[in-house]
Amino acid sequence: MPLATGPTVTKPRVLPFYRAVPRLMKDPVTELARMGTDAGGRIVRLDIGPFRPYLVSHPDHVQQVLKTQWSNFAREGMFWRPLRRVTGRSILGDGEGWASSRRILQPLFTARRIASLADDMAEVVAEHVGELERDARPGRLVDAAHLMTTVTNRTVIKVLFGGRISREVGERLLPEFATCATSIGFRLLFPFVPYSMRVPGDRAFLAAAQRIDDIVYPLIEEARAEEPRDGDDGGRPDELVSALIRARIREDGAADLRQVRDDLVSIYGAASETTAMALTWLWTLLHDHPEVNARLRDEIEWVVGDGPVRPSHIQELPYLRMVLQELLRVHPPGWIIPRQVVADTELGGVPVKAGSQVLVSPYTTHRLEEFWERPLEFDPERWAPEREQRRHRYAYVPFGAGPHVCLGQHLFHLQAALVVAGLLARYRPVLTNPQRFTLVPGASVRPKEALLLRLLPSGTDEEPQPDAWRTPVAAPAMGVGGAHDWMWPMGPGGGA
Ligand code: HEM
Repeated sequence: MPLATGPTVTKPRVLPFYRAVPRLMKDPVTELARMGTDAGGRIVRLDIGPFRPYLVSHPDHVQQVLKTQWSNFAREGMFWRPLRRVTGRSILGDGEGWASSRRILQPLFTARRIASLADDMAEVVAEHVGELERDARPGRLVDAAHLMTTVTNRTVIKVLFGGRISREVGERLLPEFATCATSIGFRLLFPFVPYSMRVPGDRAFLAAAQRIDDIVYPLIEEARAEEPRDGDDGGRPDELVSALIRARIREDGAADLRQVRDDLVSIYGAASETTAMALTWLWTLLHDHPEVNARLRDEIEWVVGDGPVRPSHIQELPYLRMVLQELLRVHPPGWIIPRQVVADTELGGVPVKAGSQVLVSPYTTHRLEEFWERPLEFDPERWAPEREQRRHRYAYVPFGAGPHVCLGQHLFHLQAALVVAGLLARYRPVLTNPQRFTLVPGASVRPKEALLLRLLPSGTDEEPQPDAWRTPVAAPAMGVGGAHDWMWPMGPGGGA
C-alpha cells in the first residue's frame, strides 16, 4: 500500500459524527476495526464529539507512535483519565514517575525471574484443575469467563503476593477489578464528558476502587513493617510487595505507601483482566476450529499425559505457543492504546496538532489485509517458525511496543500455557452455546453473553447431547462486569 510520508501532506479519512457515533454505539470494537481496515491502514479521523481522535493502524504509524517518536506521544489525556482513578501515578502513567516505576519493576518480570516462579504457578493451576472435578459432571455447565478469571487470578496473586494474601482475600479482589475494567466503557467511548457529571458505571467504579484500597493498603503496611530500614534484605524474597518496597527504599530513600499501592494495583489490573479475557475467547476459537482443537489436544496428551502439567512441559508444546500467539492476534485484550500528542507532528503525511488524541489499535492492525493473509481467519500455522520471519515487526503488537511495551509477556506465555495444557490434559471443554458473541469494550474486550462450557473427561470422544446441557440454576450475580445476571453451577465462588 503506498503510504504518504515526507513532505507530502495527506488528508486523513474523516468519519463524520452522524456516521461514526451510531456505529460506535452499536458495536465499538468491530466498527472501529472496520473503520481502520476500510481505510486500508490510512490514518482515520473520528468525529465523535468535541474532540476528534486519530485512529492509527498501519504498522509504520504504530512504530512511529510507540517506538521512534514515543516521547512525542504521551500516555496522557482523556482516554487514560478514567483508569487513573484506580491506577494512580504508576507504571501505567508517563514521565519521570513512570520511568522510575519501570526501572524498579522491569527486573522483577524478566524471563528468568518468571521462570523461577513457574513451579508455584504450576501448583496453583494443578490445584484448580483438580477442583474442577465437581464441575465435570453431567448436566453441569461452567462459565468460561469465570473459570479463566478465577484460575488466572489465583496464579497472579501467587506471583504478586506470594504467601502474603490468603486465597479468600485474593478472591475478593477479583470482582472489584472486573468491575473497574468493565464499568469504564462509557468513559472510554465518551471521554470528553466532565467528571463532575456522573455517567453510567461511575458509582460502581469508585466503590470498587475503594474496596481494592481496603484490601491492598493493609498488605503493604504489613510488608513495610517487616522491612529493615536499609532495605537490603528482610521481607519475603518470593513476592512483589516486599520487592517493591525494598526497591523504592533503594531508589527514593523511603517507600511511599501510595506509590507502592499504585504500582501494585496497576500491575495486578494489567495482569489479571488481560490474560483472563484472552483465555476466555480461546474456547470460541477452538470450537470453531475442531482441527486446531484436535491437534492441540494431541500435542498436550503426548507431552503432558493426563497431568499435572509441569513447567518443563511448556517448551515441548510448540503448537500451543502458536495457538496462543494467534489468539492474541485475533483477540488482543489491549484493543486500543491511547496517546496524546505533545508537539505538532505528522503521521503518515497527515499533520497532527499538539494536544490531539491518537488511538493505536492493535485490533485493527492485526486485521489489515496488506500484512495478514485471510486476516479474519484463526490460523495458528501463521506462527510456524519459517513463516514468522517475513512479517512487518509492528504488524503484530498485542503487547504494545517501544519503551512502554508490556512487562508481562513472559508471565502471560507461561501462565496461559500452564492453564490451557493443565485443563486440556484432564478435560475436553465443549462450548455448548456457540453463537456470535457480542464484544464489550472496557480495559479489555469481554464477551457480553456467558460462554458455557461443559467439561468432559479428556479421553471422551462422543459429543454431548444438547438436551443434557441446559440446566441453569439461578445464582447470585457474579459482579464480573454485570454482563451476566445469573449463572450456571460452577466452581469456587459460583455454585448453587
Ligand atoms: C494477554 C495478556 C496481556 C496483554 C495483551 C497485555 C497488553 C499490554 C499492552 C498493549 C501494553 C502497552 C500499553 C501502552 O503502551 O500504553 C501493556 C503494558 C503493560 N503490561 Fe501488559 N498485557 C498482558 C499481560 C500482562 C501481564 C501478565 C502483566 C503483569 C506483569 C502486564 C503488565 C503490564 C505493565 C506493567 C504494562 C506497562 C508497561 C509500561 O508502560 O512501562 N501485562 N500490556
